[in-house]
Amino acid sequence: MRGAISMDFWTVRGGKRLYGACRVQGSKNASLPILAASVLAGGETELTNVPRLRDIDAALRILRHLGCRAEQEGNRLYIDARGLVHSSVPESLMHEMRSSVIFMGALLARCGEVRLSPPGGCRLGKRPIDLHLAALRKLGARIEEDVSELHCRAQRLRGTEIILPFPSVGATENALLAACGARGETLIRGAAREPEIAALADFLCAMVAEIRGAGSDTIRLTAFRPKKDVCFRIPPDRIAAASFACAAAGCGGDLTLNGFEPGQISAVLHFLNAAGCDIITFTHALRLRSDARLTAVGPVVTAPYPGFPTDAQPLLMAALLRAEGESLFRETIFENRYRQVPELLRLGADISLDGREATIRGVERLRGSALTATDLRGGAAMIVAGLAAQGETVICDDGHITRGYEHFDRCLRSLGADVYLEY
Ligand code: EPU
Repeated sequence: MRGAISMDFWTVRGGKRLYGACRVQGSKNASLPILAASVLAGGETELTNVPRLRDIDAALRILRHLGCRAEQEGNRLYIDARGLVHSSVPESLMHEMRSSVIFMGALLARCGEVRLSPPGGCRLGKRPIDLHLAALRKLGARIEEDVSELHCRAQRLRGTEIILPFPSVGATENALLAACGARGETLIRGAAREPEIAALADFLCAMVAEIRGAGSDTIRLTAFRPKKDVCFRIPPDRIAAASFACAAAGCGGDLTLNGFEPGQISAVLHFLNAAGCDIITFTHALRLRSDARLTAVGPVVTAPYPGFPTDAQPLLMAALLRAEGESLFRETIFENRYRQVPELLRLGADISLDGREATIRGVERLRGSALTATDLRGGAAMIVAGLAAQGETVICDDGHITRGYEHFDRCLRSLGADVYLEY
């Protein structure tokens, strides 16, 4: 894999439909907390189905800095946490990936102490971690914060009841990870219900934790007696699946997606179906047919799982740029998640923004243009839009898209698209 800083150029020649089948990659957002959890037991972890991504590379660099052996070969990943010697994550590594904050709960549980730099805001908005810190404090951690460092310590973490006022995915994960180092039972109420939480709990259970309720809003962790070595398969990536479904919806085609659970993106499929796509779901697959003449839908309101995922908002928007009528979106999770909009306008889209609402008036045709990727899902949305545009779209990207999509260009080409990535 290439280094951390370089420029990617995605060239998309639109107008082709997507035909055929592809397998959905392993989940980025399930992998990251599980990589952090691998330090808990001080043994060896073998993970399969781990996607090859820049965010995974960043997490591996953190594990190596901590003193672990961490190697990825293809989609198999090996971690040996026996040699863990550090409990701090340097600022440079924290800056590579905002979700490095997930190491906080795991290191606190394993070492009783953790130092890291606060993750700060990001392209999606302010992104505070107050809920993470409140949960750790409730478990008995003492936290000193200044502008450059967070220092968490706990002589002994104690099981407790944690009530999250908002079902934050990261705060639920950090609370669960830290609770693994606590004495006694921990109850998390108001927990996030995303499938990635259930995946983390499954991994912790493979380490012999006793956890009930993951995937619901009340999670109970009764015991954690880590066994040394764990093998675990990372579940499929529901947002990658939604991305391919939106791509085929927007440019047309007949696409089969294998190896994932369509029920996990039912909120996305609901709108694709309402827009005119013909969708058949199976237990671990779906078939989507689209003639690319969609009708507008909405309001599409983002919400915590099982609501419409904020990560899929830019992707569905891109699919609907040519839909007949007016589609309406309301973003409720992140304050700044319409960054793709000014770029989509360059393709000839007709979108107006009013605070958290976006109105898309379908246009007859989109024209290829030069775009700049703004963030991971926004960048992927530009590829989805480029596939439905006439002519060539070039997306200049300083690495956002490869943070989350494995061989995106290759997979799309295998379906007949004309998409190339050069760096
Ligand atoms: N929030 C707070 N305080 C906190 C934590 C969160 O105010 O202490 C706010 C955030 O600022 C945000 C909202 O709550 O406005 C949701 O944040 P959440 O904590 O649920 O999100 P996250 O854990 O930071 C994960 C995914 C995101 C995904 C969101 C929502 C990972 C690594 N990231 O982020 O994925 O959008 O949940 O589903 O799991 C992506 O993959 O592109 C991505 C951004």
